[in-house]
Amino acid sequence: MPDLNDATRGRILYGGDYNPEQWPEETWQEDVRLMRQAGVTTVTVGVFSWARLEPTPGGYEFDWLDRLLDLLHAAGIGVVLATPTASPPPWLGHLHPETLPQAENGTTVWYGSRNQFCASSPEYRRRAAAITEQLAARYGQHPALTMWHINNEYGTHCWCDATAAHFRRWLQHRHGSLEELNSAWGTAFWSQHYSDWAEILPPRQAQYIRNPAQLLDFARFTSDALLECYTAEHAVVARHSPGIPVTTNHMPFWRGQDGWAWAKRQDVVALDLYPDPDDALGAQYGALVQDLARSMAGGPWMLMEQATGAVNWRPVNRPKPHGLTRLWSLQAVARGADAVCFFQWRQSRQGAEKFHSAMLPHSGPDNRTFREVTALGAELDRLGPAVSGAPVTAEIALLHDWDSWWAGEQPGRPSQLTGYQETVTAWHRALWESHHTTDLAHPAADLSGYRLVVIPSLYLLTDTALDNLTAYVRSGGTLVCGWFTGVADHQDRIRPGGVDARLRELLGLAAVHHWWPLAEGDRVHCENADGTGFDGALWSEELELADAEVHARYRSGELAGRPAVTRHPYGEGTAWYVSTQPEPEALRTLLDRAAREAGARPAVEGLPAGVEAVRRGELLFLLNHGPQQAKCEPPGEWEDLLANRRADATVVLERHGVAVLKPVGA
Ligand code: GLA
Repeated sequence: MPDLNDATRGRILYGGDYNPEQWPEETWQEDVRLMRQAGVTTVTVGVFSWARLEPTPGGYEFDWLDRLLDLLHAAGIGVVLATPTASPPPWLGHLHPETLPQAENGTTVWYGSRNQFCASSPEYRRRAAAITEQLAARYGQHPALTMWHINNEYGTHCWCDATAAHFRRWLQHRHGSLEELNSAWGTAFWSQHYSDWAEILPPRQAQYIRNPAQLLDFARFTSDALLECYTAEHAVVARHSPGIPVTTNHMPFWRGQDGWAWAKRQDVVALDLYPDPDDALGAQYGALVQDLARSMAGGPWMLMEQATGAVNWRPVNRPKPHGLTRLWSLQAVARGADAVCFFQWRQSRQGAEKFHSAMLPHSGPDNRTFREVTALGAELDRLGPAVSGAPVTAEIALLHDWDSWWAGEQPGRPSQLTGYQETVTAWHRALWESHHTTDLAHPAADLSGYRLVVIPSLYLLTDTALDNLTAYVRSGGTLVCGWFTGVADHQDRIRPGGVDARLRELLGLAAVHHWWPLAEGDRVHCENADGTGFDGALWSEELELADAEVHARYRSGELAGRPAVTRHPYGEGTAWYVSTQPEPEALRTLLDRAAREAGARPAVEGLPAGVEAVRRGELLFLLNHGPQQAKCEPPGEWEDLLANRRADATVVLERHGVAVLKPVGA
């Protein structure tokens, strides 16, 4: 299978989405000249070009794309060629309204924007395959072709009749018989028993809370249905272009696609990432999502889209201050990106995204943005040979699973105030702020390479995952397990006893008698064994211990006096349980302690707050996300690759400053 290296060939790819169909051809010459000036290596073409490529059904027009690809190739610019199937032309919806998605309440989602397709529609799939075949046959051997890009940000949902039929086939395959399905969905509840497959529907709008197991299976099905669309197109382009990698771009931490399953089918994992420049924790959010992309890829990944400045879809869209685009781009490189690209090359004058920033803004190249883009292109070019392909070192794994997200975030649960992504973010933040580098991992993945494994909260854990965790700790691993974990099995049935018996044994708990969520704004005070204290929020639990040690006790509220945080030696390892959501500083202290006890260390000790240090291969990246200048003293002797000189013993990072250091002599 080809991989990202087949596209990068030892460089860092640099560029962005290019939508030349929005411009007269005279502009293309200027585009290419400015791309070269900016150090652009690669552009993504054709993402939304279906109506231009096939303006009438079966009436293909490729001349313009022929000219464009030849022009780019002559300029030495590679092309990530997209299949345009994310945005079908109006004629498809007009002739075949059954290709349009239907919402939960049966209303049609019309054309006039984008993404108006039903993944289960045979007609949509037929037309998508046809345009993909045309493109692949025509350009599959084009010398500019660097990578294939399928569709764009797969994320649609549909509840139509074709989806219902497809869902039934998927359920038959998953459950085998109606009896099994009835059992898996717990249809004895509320008279939901199905006596014929034909009765089964996607979970459409209903009077009251819908069946949670049905919702869970529908989330799994939707991810799989979209993945079928992806793999069908992947197969077409791969047939015409052996050796050329194929990708699709994921939205950051997107609920609708099981990223672990998708990544297995992609040659390259590509991510779109838009942290809010006004968010003080934007860099941490970026780090989390980049860690996920790297972990999905199992190595280098592609930053397919980011913004040079403002986006157009927040309530208030502010530009990035000077230096932030560079800082966040190099952060992605530090965390494993071998491609740094933007949405988009030239800012649109019309359409829904005319206020979205671009590499080349409305005001043209004589602009801070374009100067920063150009400088970044030169730096990435310099870094490429030292960085490309190198692995990122992480000693800690944070466990994440879409199944658990889908099952745990449904109506009818103990608290609607808890959010899966918020919890994962809080735990990742605690590790990030204490300067540890973290991978994300599936709960059934091989964890033996990690010194510490943390579970922010995994409501659903399969038998395989539970056995995996037990084996990991038994053979010497350290686990820190957060609240409301191990409650449901793979089909969202509550485990006997409320929390799985294997997990209780691992944690040294006799029982979790009650989940005791906290009201909005409520805090529960906890006291550590050493007399220090912290507040917990969102959640608490009434625990009964078997042989775990008490690390902290609740000191306020209904649970005052009872254990809050526990520690349990198990086999050769240790398992902690954290039954509330500690305030950020307390979680940081706890996870840092567990990490250090397990032998995990940050890349550099004693870093100032806001400085991120990441090891990639032999390189050390230092990134200053703080509001002012920061100083670091990484032990050893270093060459500063960006400044192109020997680094001082004290590395001074200005606001938004970055140093990429290579050991002297390496
Ligand atoms: C997504 C899409 C792009 C563009 C950007 C705007 O990432 O893939 O086409 O709409 O958002 O931020």
